[in-house]
Amino acid sequence: MQIPFISFAYTNSLLRAEILQAFEQFYDAENYILGNAVQDFEKKYAALNHTNYCIGVGNGLDALFICLKAVDIGTEDEVIVPANTFIATVLAISHAGATPIFVEPHEQTYTLNSERIEEKITSKTKAILPVHLYGQACEMEKIMALANKYKLYVIEDNAQAHLATYKGKMTGSFGAINGTSFYPTKNLGALGDAGAITTDSENLAHKAKLLRNYGSEKRYHNELVGYNSRLDEVQATLLNVKLKYLAAWTKQRQQLATIYNQELAGVGDLILPTIAEDCSHVFHLYVVRTEKRDALQAYLNQCGIGMLIHYPIPPHLQKAYRSLNYLKGSLPIAEKLADTSLSLPLYVGLEENQISYIVERVKAFF
Ligand SMILES: Cc1ncc(COP(=O)(O)O)c(C=O)c1O
Repeated sequence: MQIPFISFAYTNSLLRAEILQAFEQFYDAENYILGNAVQDFEKKYAALNHTNYCIGVGNGLDALFICLKAVDIGTEDEVIVPANTFIATVLAISHAGATPIFVEPHEQTYTLNSERIEEKITSKTKAILPVHLYGQACEMEKIMALANKYKLYVIEDNAQAHLATYKGKMTGSFGAINGTSFYPTKNLGALGDAGAITTDSENLAHKAKLLRNYGSEKRYHNELVGYNSRLDEVQATLLNVKLKYLAAWTKQRQQLATIYNQELAGVGDLILPTIAEDCSHVFHLYVVRTEKRDALQAYLNQCGIGMLIHYPIPPHLQKAYRSLNYLKGSLPIAEKLADTSLSLPLYVGLEENQISYIVERVKAFF
Protein backbone atom coordinates (compact mmCIF):
# COMPACT_ATOMS: atom_id res chain seq x y z
CA MET A 1 0.00 0.00 0.00
CA GLN A 2 1.28 3.51 -0.85
CA ILE A 3 0.34 6.23 1.66
CA PRO A 4 1.68 9.72 0.98
CA PHE A 5 2.56 11.99 3.90
CA ILE A 6 -0.24 14.28 2.78
CA SER A 7 -2.91 14.09 0.13
CA PHE A 8 -5.53 16.60 -1.00
CA ALA A 9 -7.41 13.99 -3.04
CA TYR A 10 -10.34 13.63 -0.62
CA THR A 11 -10.91 17.32 0.12
CA ASN A 12 -10.32 18.34 -3.50
CA SER A 13 -12.91 15.90 -4.73
CA LEU A 14 -15.41 16.82 -1.97
CA LEU A 15 -15.17 20.55 -2.78
CA ARG A 16 -14.62 20.40 -6.52
CA ALA A 17 -18.01 21.77 -7.62
CA GLU A 18 -18.16 24.41 -4.88
CA ILE A 19 -14.60 25.62 -5.53
CA LEU A 20 -15.09 25.85 -9.30
CA GLN A 21 -18.34 27.76 -8.85
CA ALA A 22 -16.67 30.19 -6.42
CA PHE A 23 -13.80 30.63 -8.86
CA GLU A 24 -16.24 31.48 -11.66
CA GLN A 25 -17.84 34.16 -9.48
CA PHE A 26 -14.41 35.59 -8.68
CA TYR A 27 -13.49 35.50 -12.37
CA ASP A 28 -16.60 37.33 -13.45
CA ALA A 29 -16.48 39.93 -10.66
CA GLU A 30 -13.33 41.50 -12.18
CA ASN A 31 -12.15 42.69 -8.78
CA TYR A 32 -8.83 40.98 -8.36
CA ILE A 33 -7.06 42.81 -5.53
CA LEU A 34 -8.54 43.37 -2.03
CA GLY A 35 -12.06 42.73 -3.26
CA ASN A 36 -15.21 41.42 -1.57
CA ALA A 37 -13.83 37.92 -1.00
CA VAL A 38 -10.93 39.26 1.10
CA GLN A 39 -13.27 41.46 3.13
CA ASP A 40 -15.72 38.60 3.59
CA PHE A 41 -12.97 36.22 4.71
CA GLU A 42 -11.48 38.77 7.13
CA LYS A 43 -14.89 39.25 8.77
CA LYS A 44 -15.51 35.53 9.11
CA TYR A 45 -12.01 34.67 10.32
CA ALA A 46 -12.08 37.44 12.94
CA ALA A 47 -15.45 36.16 14.19
CA LEU A 48 -14.17 32.58 14.31
CA ASN A 49 -11.14 33.65 16.34
CA HIS A 50 -13.15 35.94 18.60
CA THR A 51 -10.96 38.90 17.68
CA ASN A 52 -12.14 42.33 16.61
CA TYR A 53 -10.03 42.39 13.45
CA CYS A 54 -8.47 40.13 10.85
CA ILE A 55 -6.16 41.44 8.12
CA GLY A 56 -5.46 39.10 5.22
CA VAL A 57 -1.85 39.00 4.01
CA GLY A 58 0.28 37.13 1.49
CA ASN A 59 1.59 34.31 3.71
CA GLY A 60 2.42 33.35 7.29
CA LEU A 61 5.96 34.72 7.27
CA ASP A 62 4.69 38.13 6.15
CA ALA A 63 1.92 37.96 8.77
CA LEU A 64 4.47 37.59 11.58
CA PHE A 65 6.81 40.16 10.05
CA ILE A 66 4.01 42.74 9.73
CA CYS A 67 2.93 42.02 13.33
CA LEU A 68 6.47 42.81 14.50
CA LYS A 69 6.64 45.97 12.38
CA ALA A 70 3.20 47.06 13.62
CA VAL A 71 4.49 47.16 17.20
CA ASP A 72 7.66 48.95 16.02
CA ILE A 73 10.12 46.14 16.68
CA GLY A 74 13.46 46.93 15.07
CA THR A 75 17.22 46.64 15.16
CA GLU A 76 17.82 47.28 18.87
CA ASP A 77 15.25 44.77 20.04
CA GLU A 78 15.24 41.16 21.19
CA VAL A 79 12.32 38.80 20.67
CA ILE A 80 11.89 35.60 22.68
CA VAL A 81 11.01 32.62 20.53
CA PRO A 82 10.93 28.84 21.03
CA ALA A 83 14.11 27.08 19.91
CA ASN A 84 12.15 24.34 18.11
CA THR A 85 9.97 26.20 15.67
CA PHE A 86 9.72 26.30 11.88
CA ILE A 87 12.31 28.66 10.44
CA ALA A 88 9.72 31.24 9.28
CA THR A 89 8.98 32.29 12.88
CA VAL A 90 12.64 33.23 13.31
CA LEU A 91 13.00 34.75 9.83
CA ALA A 92 10.19 37.20 10.63
CA ILE A 93 12.19 38.45 13.63
CA SER A 94 15.36 38.76 11.53
CA HIS A 95 13.58 40.59 8.73
CA ALA A 96 12.30 43.11 11.28
CA GLY A 97 15.98 43.65 12.17
CA ALA A 98 15.60 42.25 15.71
CA THR A 99 17.52 39.43 17.42
CA PRO A 100 15.82 36.09 18.12
CA ILE A 101 16.44 34.83 21.66
CA PHE A 102 15.82 31.10 21.75
CA VAL A 103 14.08 29.46 24.68
CA GLU A 104 13.86 25.71 25.20
CA PRO A 105 10.51 23.94 24.80
CA HIS A 106 8.88 21.52 27.22
CA GLU A 107 10.29 18.09 26.54
CA GLN A 108 6.82 16.52 26.83
CA THR A 109 4.53 18.88 24.92
CA TYR A 110 7.12 20.56 22.63
CA THR A 111 5.62 24.02 23.26
CA LEU A 112 7.52 26.99 24.71
CA ASN A 113 8.52 26.39 28.35
CA SER A 114 7.29 29.45 30.21
CA GLU A 115 9.52 28.58 33.20
CA ARG A 116 12.56 29.30 31.04
CA ILE A 117 11.50 32.66 29.60
CA GLU A 118 12.27 34.97 32.53
CA GLU A 119 16.01 34.16 32.60
CA LYS A 120 16.25 35.36 28.97
CA ILE A 121 14.53 38.72 29.47
CA THR A 122 16.88 41.72 29.20
CA SER A 123 16.43 45.47 28.85
CA LYS A 124 16.28 44.88 25.07
CA THR A 125 13.45 42.35 25.14
CA LYS A 126 10.41 43.75 23.39
CA ALA A 127 8.20 40.72 22.69
CA ILE A 128 7.51 37.04 23.29
CA LEU A 129 6.57 35.05 20.20
CA PRO A 130 5.00 31.74 21.30
CA VAL A 131 4.29 29.11 18.64
CA HIS A 132 1.35 26.73 19.05
CA LEU A 133 3.50 23.98 17.62
CA TYR A 134 2.00 20.99 15.80
CA GLY A 135 -1.46 22.32 16.76
CA GLN A 136 -1.18 22.41 20.54
CA ALA A 137 -1.85 25.66 22.43
CA CYS A 138 1.00 27.04 24.54
CA GLU A 139 0.48 27.72 28.27
CA MET A 140 -0.83 31.20 27.55
CA GLU A 141 -1.73 32.24 31.08
CA LYS A 142 1.88 32.08 32.28
CA ILE A 143 3.18 33.69 29.08
CA MET A 144 0.69 36.57 29.35
CA ALA A 145 1.56 37.07 33.03
CA LEU A 146 5.26 37.38 32.21
CA ALA A 147 4.51 39.75 29.34
CA ASN A 148 2.42 41.94 31.66
CA LYS A 149 5.11 41.89 34.35
CA TYR A 150 7.85 43.05 31.96
CA LYS A 151 5.63 45.13 29.63
CA LEU A 152 6.34 42.99 26.57
CA TYR A 153 4.19 42.40 23.53
CA VAL A 154 2.94 38.88 22.90
CA ILE A 155 2.73 37.95 19.23
CA GLU A 156 1.35 34.45 18.68
CA ASP A 157 2.41 32.27 15.78
CA ASN A 158 -0.85 30.47 15.11
CA ALA A 159 0.15 28.96 11.76
CA GLN A 160 -0.32 25.38 12.96
CA ALA A 161 -3.19 25.77 15.37
CA HIS A 162 -6.38 27.07 13.74
CA LEU A 163 -9.25 26.55 16.22
CA ALA A 164 -6.99 25.44 19.09
CA THR A 165 -7.81 26.87 22.52
CA TYR A 166 -6.18 27.53 25.87
CA LYS A 167 -8.72 27.34 28.73
CA GLY A 168 -11.41 27.67 26.07
CA LYS A 169 -10.01 30.87 24.54
CA MET A 170 -8.87 30.76 20.93
CA THR A 171 -5.18 30.73 20.12
CA GLY A 172 -4.45 33.79 18.01
CA SER A 173 -6.60 35.92 20.33
CA PHE A 174 -4.20 36.32 23.29
CA GLY A 175 -1.39 38.42 21.85
CA ALA A 176 -1.48 42.12 21.05
CA ILE A 177 -1.30 41.09 17.39
CA ASN A 178 -0.91 37.58 15.96
CA GLY A 179 -0.02 35.88 12.70
CA THR A 180 -1.18 32.74 10.96
CA SER A 181 -0.59 30.89 7.71
CA PHE A 182 -2.95 29.23 5.24
CA TYR A 183 -0.18 27.38 3.41
CA PRO A 184 -1.94 24.50 1.58
CA THR A 185 -1.02 21.82 4.15
CA LYS A 186 -2.25 23.84 7.12
CA ASN A 187 -5.47 22.83 8.91
CA LEU A 188 -7.14 25.64 6.96
CA GLY A 189 -5.15 25.63 3.75
CA ALA A 190 -5.48 27.80 0.65
CA LEU A 191 -4.59 26.56 -2.82
CA GLY A 192 -1.41 28.62 -2.78
CA ASP A 193 0.18 31.08 -0.36
CA ALA A 194 -1.97 33.01 2.09
CA GLY A 195 -1.87 34.27 5.66
CA ALA A 196 -3.62 36.54 8.14
CA ILE A 197 -3.18 38.74 11.19
CA THR A 198 -5.62 38.84 14.10
CA THR A 199 -5.88 41.53 16.76
CA ASP A 200 -8.33 43.29 19.05
CA SER A 201 -6.54 46.61 18.70
CA GLU A 202 -8.05 49.12 16.27
CA ASN A 203 -4.74 50.96 16.09
CA LEU A 204 -2.62 47.85 15.33
CA ALA A 205 -5.20 46.57 12.84
CA HIS A 206 -5.05 49.92 11.03
CA LYS A 207 -1.26 49.85 10.99
CA ALA A 208 -1.13 46.26 9.71
CA LYS A 209 -3.64 47.16 7.00
CA LEU A 210 -1.44 50.01 5.86
CA LEU A 211 1.77 47.96 6.04
CA ARG A 212 0.40 45.19 3.81
CA ASN A 213 -0.50 47.72 1.11
CA TYR A 214 2.47 50.07 0.49
CA GLY A 215 1.71 51.91 3.75
CA SER A 216 -1.31 53.37 2.04
CA GLU A 217 -5.00 53.60 2.85
CA LYS A 218 -5.92 56.11 0.19
CA ARG A 219 -4.52 55.34 -3.25
CA TYR A 220 -1.25 57.17 -3.96
CA HIS A 221 -1.09 58.58 -0.42
CA ASN A 222 1.57 56.79 1.66
CA GLU A 223 1.62 57.13 5.44
CA LEU A 224 4.17 54.40 6.20
CA VAL A 225 7.06 52.71 4.39
CA GLY A 226 4.94 49.67 3.69
CA TYR A 227 5.13 46.40 1.76
CA ASN A 228 3.06 44.53 -0.76
CA SER A 229 1.61 41.53 1.02
CA ARG A 230 -2.13 41.41 0.43
CA LEU A 231 -4.23 38.29 0.81
CA ASP A 232 -4.88 37.31 -2.79
CA GLU A 233 -8.52 37.61 -3.87
CA VAL A 234 -8.48 34.13 -5.45
CA GLN A 235 -7.12 32.57 -2.28
CA ALA A 236 -9.69 34.43 -0.17
CA THR A 237 -12.42 33.12 -2.50
CA LEU A 238 -11.24 29.55 -1.96
CA LEU A 239 -10.66 30.02 1.78
CA ASN A 240 -14.26 31.23 2.13
CA VAL A 241 -15.38 27.86 0.79
CA LYS A 242 -13.01 25.83 2.95
CA LEU A 243 -13.63 27.78 6.16
CA LYS A 244 -17.10 26.21 6.47
CA TYR A 245 -15.51 22.78 6.84
CA LEU A 246 -12.76 23.68 9.29
CA ALA A 247 -14.60 22.68 12.48
CA ALA A 248 -15.59 19.26 11.10
CA TRP A 249 -12.12 18.68 9.67
CA THR A 250 -10.52 19.59 12.99
CA LYS A 251 -12.68 16.94 14.71
CA GLN A 252 -11.63 14.43 12.08
CA ARG A 253 -7.94 15.18 12.74
CA GLN A 254 -8.50 14.72 16.47
CA GLN A 255 -10.27 11.40 15.85
CA LEU A 256 -7.41 10.13 13.69
CA ALA A 257 -4.93 11.15 16.41
CA THR A 258 -7.00 9.22 18.97
CA ILE A 259 -6.75 6.09 16.82
CA TYR A 260 -2.97 6.46 16.59
CA ASN A 261 -2.79 7.07 20.37
CA GLN A 262 -4.77 3.93 21.13
CA GLU A 263 -3.02 1.68 18.62
CA LEU A 264 0.55 2.84 19.25
CA ALA A 265 0.50 2.99 23.07
CA GLY A 266 3.36 0.93 24.50
CA VAL A 267 4.91 0.11 21.12
CA GLY A 268 8.73 0.01 21.28
CA ASP A 269 10.23 3.17 22.79
CA LEU A 270 7.70 5.39 21.01
CA ILE A 271 6.75 8.58 22.82
CA LEU A 272 3.27 9.67 21.74
CA PRO A 273 1.95 13.26 21.82
CA THR A 274 1.22 14.64 25.31
CA ILE A 275 -1.48 17.24 25.72
CA ALA A 276 -0.98 19.69 28.58
CA GLU A 277 -3.76 20.61 31.00
CA ASP A 278 -6.03 23.40 29.68
CA CYS A 279 -4.44 23.21 26.20
CA SER A 280 -6.35 21.82 23.24
CA HIS A 281 -4.59 20.16 20.31
CA VAL A 282 -5.88 20.36 16.72
CA PHE A 283 -3.27 17.93 15.36
CA HIS A 284 -1.82 19.84 12.48
CA LEU A 285 0.88 17.18 12.82
CA TYR A 286 1.00 13.86 14.63
CA VAL A 287 4.57 13.75 15.94
CA VAL A 288 6.04 10.74 17.71
CA ARG A 289 9.54 10.32 19.13
CA THR A 290 11.93 7.38 19.15
CA GLU A 291 15.68 6.86 19.56
CA LYS A 292 15.45 4.74 16.39
CA ARG A 293 13.96 7.58 14.35
CA ASP A 294 16.14 7.35 11.25
CA ALA A 295 15.82 3.56 10.98
CA LEU A 296 12.03 3.77 11.48
CA GLN A 297 11.74 6.43 8.81
CA ALA A 298 13.79 4.39 6.33
CA TYR A 299 11.71 1.28 7.07
CA LEU A 300 8.36 3.05 6.68
CA ASN A 301 9.50 4.67 3.45
CA GLN A 302 10.36 1.20 2.15
CA CYS A 303 6.84 0.14 3.09
CA GLY A 304 5.42 2.95 0.93
CA ILE A 305 4.53 5.25 3.83
CA GLY A 306 5.47 8.93 3.49
CA MET A 307 7.06 10.41 6.60
CA LEU A 308 8.48 13.83 7.38
CA ILE A 309 10.60 15.25 10.19
CA HIS A 310 9.43 18.48 11.82
CA TYR A 311 12.12 19.73 12.04
CA PRO A 312 15.48 18.01 11.44
CA ILE A 313 17.70 21.06 12.20
CA PRO A 314 16.64 23.63 14.81
CA PRO A 315 16.95 27.28 13.70
CA HIS A 316 19.97 28.06 15.92
CA LEU A 317 22.01 25.38 14.10
CA GLN A 318 20.98 26.40 10.59
CA LYS A 319 23.68 27.78 8.32
CA ALA A 320 21.62 30.93 7.91
CA TYR A 321 22.02 31.66 11.63
CA ARG A 322 25.74 30.93 11.98
CA SER A 323 26.30 34.59 12.80
CA LEU A 324 24.36 34.13 16.04
CA ASN A 325 27.22 31.85 17.22
CA TYR A 326 25.18 29.07 18.79
CA LEU A 327 27.11 25.83 19.24
CA LYS A 328 25.72 22.32 19.03
CA GLY A 329 24.61 21.39 22.53
CA SER A 330 23.61 24.93 23.47
CA LEU A 331 19.88 24.17 23.37
CA PRO A 332 19.85 20.46 24.22
CA ILE A 333 16.10 19.88 24.45
CA ALA A 334 15.37 21.45 21.06
CA GLU A 335 18.26 19.47 19.58
CA LYS A 336 17.05 16.21 21.13
CA LEU A 337 13.57 16.80 19.68
CA ALA A 338 15.12 17.44 16.26
CA ASP A 339 17.03 14.14 16.49
CA THR A 340 14.15 11.96 17.65
CA SER A 341 10.91 13.34 16.17
CA LEU A 342 8.99 11.84 13.29
CA SER A 343 5.60 12.87 11.87
CA LEU A 344 3.14 10.17 10.79
CA PRO A 345 0.63 10.88 8.01
CA LEU A 346 -2.47 12.63 9.36
CA TYR A 347 -4.86 14.47 7.07
CA VAL A 348 -8.55 14.79 6.30
CA GLY A 349 -9.46 11.81 4.15
CA LEU A 350 -6.86 9.43 5.62
CA GLU A 351 -8.80 6.18 5.91
CA GLU A 352 -8.93 3.77 8.84
CA ASN A 353 -7.47 0.92 6.77
CA GLN A 354 -4.55 3.19 5.89
CA ILE A 355 -3.97 4.03 9.56
CA SER A 356 -4.19 0.28 10.33
CA TYR A 357 -1.49 -0.38 7.76
CA ILE A 358 0.76 2.36 9.19
CA VAL A 359 0.25 1.04 12.74
CA GLU A 360 0.91 -2.55 11.62
CA ARG A 361 4.17 -1.52 9.92
CA VAL A 362 5.31 0.55 12.92
CA LYS A 363 4.66 -2.46 15.19
CA ALA A 364 6.49 -4.75 12.75
CA PHE A 365 9.52 -2.44 12.87
CA PHE A 366 9.76 -2.61 16.66
C1 LIG B 1 4.95 27.66 12.80
C2 LIG B 1 4.94 28.32 11.46
N1 LIG B 1 5.18 29.64 11.39
C3 LIG B 1 5.18 30.29 10.21
C4 LIG B 1 4.94 29.63 9.03
C5 LIG B 1 5.06 30.40 7.76
O1 LIG B 1 3.94 30.36 6.97
P1 LIG B 1 4.06 30.54 5.37
O2 LIG B 1 4.59 29.26 4.83
O3 LIG B 1 2.65 30.79 4.97
O4 LIG B 1 4.94 31.70 5.13
C6 LIG B 1 4.64 28.26 9.06
C7 LIG B 1 4.30 27.47 7.87
O5 LIG B 1 4.79 27.35 6.85
C8 LIG B 1 4.68 27.59 10.31
O6 LIG B 1 4.47 26.28 10.38
